[in-house]
Formats: sequence, structure tokens, C-alpha cells
Amino acid sequence: MTKTKRRRPATRSSVRRILVLHGPNLNLLGMREPAIYGRETLGDIDRRLARLAQAYGVALECFQSNHEGALIERVHDAKAQGFAFIIINPAGYTHTSVAVRDAILASGILTIEVHLSNIYSREEFRQRSLISPVVKGTISGFGPKSYTLGLEALIDLVK
Ligand code: DQA
Repeated sequence: MTKTKRRRPATRSSVRRILVLHGPNLNLLGMREPAIYGRETLGDIDRRLARLAQAYGVALECFQSNHEGALIERVHDAKAQGFAFIIINPAGYTHTSVAVRDAILASGILTIEVHLSNIYSREEFRQRSLISPVVKGTISGFGPKSYTLGLEALIDLVK
């Protein structure tokens, strides 16, 4: 007789939790420079991510702030709050924030950096990311799809 393996139902603590962080001005998506960032709102992006996360059986929480310290505090608290991974679009802080970079390093949490636009094809000051050297990988230039590609990359990593 062969034994059939039963999958234990996922409890809240066994579900992988992912924190999605959106940096400054991303709350304006949809109205902000649509030729570069498109017409989708941040709400559209978050809802699509939530649907995809549900389909993959992972838990996801999204947070946007225009304040560097608020983003840093979310990174600090992430481990204690049970987040296993971070997906971050640091927006303007990508190019300036040693502090966000240090927070990611201090957290020790596997992080993926995403950008809607291709930062390497834009102004010179955008072509340097202080965040890229401390993350697992960067996805840049696919519009809102950069976020879903980031989530799929994470799912592949933990499979
Ligand atoms: C961005 C690119 C950054 O240079 C810019 O400051 C942003 C958005 C992107 O998603 O393409 O705010 O991170």
C-alpha cells in the first residue's frame, strides 16, 4: 500500500510574507509623468500584486511613503513582523540614500529592487543605484510589470 502525503494547510506563520515598499512620489502614479511611468495608479499595481500573491499562496503587504525614515523603519521592523522578503522601489532614494541601503543590509532580508522605468537609459544621475549592490537583483524598465516580475523571481527563488 502506498502512503499518500497530505499537505498540511498553510497557517499564517508558515505562509511566506513579502513586504512591498514604494518610495516617494509613487503615490502619484497615474498622473505623474505618464509618458515615463504610465497611467496605472499605485492602487492598480498593489491590487495586481495581491492577486498574484494569493495565486502563489504567499502573503503580501504594500506600504508607500514619501519619507525616508518611514521606509527605513518598515525595513527595521520587517523581521520582527515576520516578513521573509522585501520588494522595494526606492524611487528617488535609489540614487541618494545611503540610509535605505544600510537598513536593507542591517535587516539581512533578501530584497529585490524594482523600477518602472529603465533607470540606466535615463539621466546620468539616475544611472547609479546605491541600492543595487545590496539586493539580490534589480528589475528595471518594464513598467508595472517590473513589480510582478520581481514577485515571480522571488517565488522561483524559494520554490
Ligand atoms: C523610479 C525611477 C527613479 O529614478 C525615480 O526617482 C522614481 C521612480 C522608477 O520606478 O522608474 O521615482 O524608481
